[in-house]
Amino acid sequence: MTEIQITDRLIHLRNDRISYIMGIMEPGILTHLYFGKRLESFRPESILRRYGLKDEELRLKKGILNNVPLEYPSWGLGDMREGSLIARAADGGASCDLRFRDAEAADGKYRLDGLPSAYGENAKTLRVRLYDEKLRMRVTLLYAVFEDCDVITRSAVIENQGSEAIELERAASLCLELPDDRYDLITLSGAWARERAVYRRRICPGEMSVSSLRGASSHITSPFAALARPETSESQGEVYGAALVYSGSFYMGAQVDSNGAVRLQGGLNDRHFSWKLDAGETFTVPEGVLVYSDCGLDGMSAQFHTLCANHIVRGKWAKAPRPILLNNWEATYFAFDEEKLLSIAKKAAETGIELFVLDDGWFGHRDDDHSSLGDWFVYEKKLPDGIRHLSDRIHEMGLKFGLWFEPEMISPDSDLFRKHPDWAMQFQGREHVEGRNQLILDLSNPEVCEHVYQMMAGHLREDGIDYIKWDMNRNFTNPGSMRLPPDRMKEFPHRYMLGLYSILSRLTEAFPEVLFESCSGGGGRFDLGMLSFMPQTWCSDNTDAISRCRIQWGTSYVFPPFSMGAHVSAVPNHQTGRITPINTRINVAMSGCFGFELDLNRLTEEEIAQVRAAVVRIKEVREILLYGEFHRLSSPYEGHDTAWITVSKDHKRAILMLTRDLAQPNANAPMIRLRGLDAQKTYRVLETGEVYRGDELMNSGITPELPKGDAASVSLTLAAEE
Ligand code: DGJ
Repeated sequence: MTEIQITDRLIHLRNDRISYIMGIMEPGILTHLYFGKRLESFRPESILRRYGLKDEELRLKKGILNNVPLEYPSWGLGDMREGSLIARAADGGASCDLRFRDAEAADGKYRLDGLPSAYGENAKTLRVRLYDEKLRMRVTLLYAVFEDCDVITRSAVIENQGSEAIELERAASLCLELPDDRYDLITLSGAWARERAVYRRRICPGEMSVSSLRGASSHITSPFAALARPETSESQGEVYGAALVYSGSFYMGAQVDSNGAVRLQGGLNDRHFSWKLDAGETFTVPEGVLVYSDCGLDGMSAQFHTLCANHIVRGKWAKAPRPILLNNWEATYFAFDEEKLLSIAKKAAETGIELFVLDDGWFGHRDDDHSSLGDWFVYEKKLPDGIRHLSDRIHEMGLKFGLWFEPEMISPDSDLFRKHPDWAMQFQGREHVEGRNQLILDLSNPEVCEHVYQMMAGHLREDGIDYIKWDMNRNFTNPGSMRLPPDRMKEFPHRYMLGLYSILSRLTEAFPEVLFESCSGGGGRFDLGMLSFMPQTWCSDNTDAISRCRIQWGTSYVFPPFSMGAHVSAVPNHQTGRITPINTRINVAMSGCFGFELDLNRLTEEEIAQVRAAVVRIKEVREILLYGEFHRLSSPYEGHDTAWITVSKDHKRAILMLTRDLAQPNANAPMIRLRGLDAQKTYRVLETGEVYRGDELMNSGITPELPKGDAASVSLTLAAEE
């Protein structure tokens, strides 16, 4: 059950497992006192003593705020740490004195204007209103607590109730104060084709952070951070996880102060950011989420996964079996015509695949990546009868039809650019800087957003499209607009995101049947913001099974299998040159939204037989693979073996995957301790006929037999005996 208790001194949010507690101290300072395992009652004295505070009166004038755990710290009044809010008055003064006004609880989950946020009936919302007298600025802190996951979501609405403009120079989403610094900071960082690798280091005095200034959450680092006790492992120990429901430039970091207390913060990246709040205007801060688990990193991920399943991903596809797809990108790149596509699709249909996706190159005069983005009309040289004709042929084969777009982009060589050069993102008078030979549209301009919406809606209405791959292949340069006045130019990166979200929200509402997959040169924008509109994200352009073990392992810290696009591609792999057996590629891709990225006509009969068998098996078990409970078992970051298991919600079936990157001569076979099973149940391994009790599998383990050779893999199905 969720509850919010508000008394004169304390505000306590809780569900059956976690508590989140704030204090209201004289003279109206909102403190953060506790986040962790559920508490039945709470006395603030101890925690205040821990911070060296003798009574509940904060003597602001003596600068004592520097040692106070604050709920939404601002700047300039004695707290010397990095704060969450910097608001500059018209006279240039930037200190901010937020005092508690009132708080109220309500049923249901708050919504945010223009921004994605978690949803859910089984939630409760808390609104805490703070006020700065001088600025005449009201800050409403928003919180939600859920019945089914150990997550607190946060946001804030900042309102200028005065008559002069206020300049917001920082407005963070998250702030979590912890009384000691015995934590490791875990982040997910990497690069194109190496997304979301796991990094873990001990925090120490000063600041450790990850951020993006790219206008996208980025390949380089995810809008995620966790603080885990040094002894916390996958299966046990305390951990706090934080993530943003946001897809643009962000900041996420932990500061350790001189007394060994920690402040974890996250939100909009405030470099090159400010927002002018005119009299009467409001600014809504992107949503942040905080997770607590005392069941290790696996426990933290379980909370994030439940959040994604029940409160982030929405619509028809949220809980539906995702179609097994074949995408032509690595099969043909730009070199295709209708005949070629139909031959690939025909083989896909014969093999049991359900969706054919036509990737880049079908529009304008696009033979390579130098032109045509923005000219979303069919390239007649390749497809003389048009897209509708192709989609009809595909549908006749019993397949669904999907199409690739990169709607946020504009090529300098395009009719669109020739007609509307002012629609490209730019600073006036500054030469364009291209990335992948393309520019980005100015989505801070409502006219451009309207154009993109109408273009997409037109295709969706007319072309028989069941699935959209929404790509975004470069980051911001000259992040500005011809339309914004100079004193608002720093608003551009966030205004762009608001424009993008408005298009996505209209499209997904108008076309609820369509399955959208988000992509950004692979996993360059894999975040909770995009997942709020598009239920799956192309995890990485790196389709090599061994690389994917690391990428999918890291991705699973926050994101569940049903959100990760994962495909079987050709060998030698186009990104790494590695040759892996087809069953390895299948086993690894199976732990996500399964598909193919190759021309099946080029496989041997034996390989086709394996593909056919895999498709049959995946259709049988995809409910479990996508929506079961996912547990990481053996880490590719610690050895040669990657193992994970997905267990059905009723714990009656499970799929175990083990992949070894390099063969180990004269070495013991891997012993994998499973998780998530019912200790009392007896399970049969369908592939071998062996029978084990759940407690044996979880405490002693299982030693699956791997084939010989590098990149060997096995996937086992466990079924509980009646
Ligand atoms: C980048 C994507 O990640 C690829 O899958 C493919 O769609 C290309 N873009 C097409 O240009």
